[in-house]
Amino acid sequence: MSGDARGRFITLEGVEGAGKSTALDTVREVLEQAGLPLLITREPGGTPLGERIRELLLSHEFTEMADDTEVLLVFAARAQHLAERIHPRLAEGTWVLSDRFTDATYAYQGAGRGLPAERIAQMETWVQGDFRPDLTLILDLPVEIGLRRAAGRSDPDRFEREARPFFEAVRACYLQLAGEAPDRYRVIDAAQPVDQVQTAIRNTLRAWLETLS
Ligand code: TMP
Repeated sequence: MSGDARGRFITLEGVEGAGKSTALDTVREVLEQAGLPLLITREPGGTPLGERIRELLLSHEFTEMADDTEVLLVFAARAQHLAERIHPRLAEGTWVLSDRFTDATYAYQGAGRGLPAERIAQMETWVQGDFRPDLTLILDLPVEIGLRRAAGRSDPDRFEREARPFFEAVRACYLQLAGEAPDRYRVIDAAQPVDQVQTAIRNTLRAWLETLS
């Protein structure tokens, strides 16, 4: 495929209710059909330590969590994820698909909470150096539709309890990031019926894989 033995790093992002679980299955199917060894993981989480940090971040217990605490926890989990799983697996030639990564920090902690993007960029450089995803798929849909879909879920976590303007800011940030670096991002219209979303993901991913060969 690419000629080098290193795996590729693909991330999936989107607002609440965008259909990430179904999209993950579709991405997995395409990569497996292409015969690529794959690790599927998620953030915050992906390691035993990271999953404990995820519990802290999502718990309703910590409604008073300061924005700085939140972003530091997100990056602490990420540092562990990179060291323990992502870098070692990529180095051995496994492809890694992560359900969210640092774009979610720009979107949720940056645009949502209001932390300056420069601050997040500093932490990104500290924790990741110049490591970035090879491809990021953004599932985009109007916030209203996403929230309506997500409303059916029981027991919303600490983020899901945010109000609509928060998610409008999150969505706008994702679209801005995609607009600034179209080489790395692909925006998928997630408001379409599920089978059309799946087709769009398959086509997008196959076209991208072609560019690597
Ligand atoms: P999930 O809904 O994809 O399982 O992700 C859990 C929540 O964590 C979601 O509401 C977005 C949030 N999150 C952040 O706020 N910052 C981050 O950097 C990441 C990776 C997730």
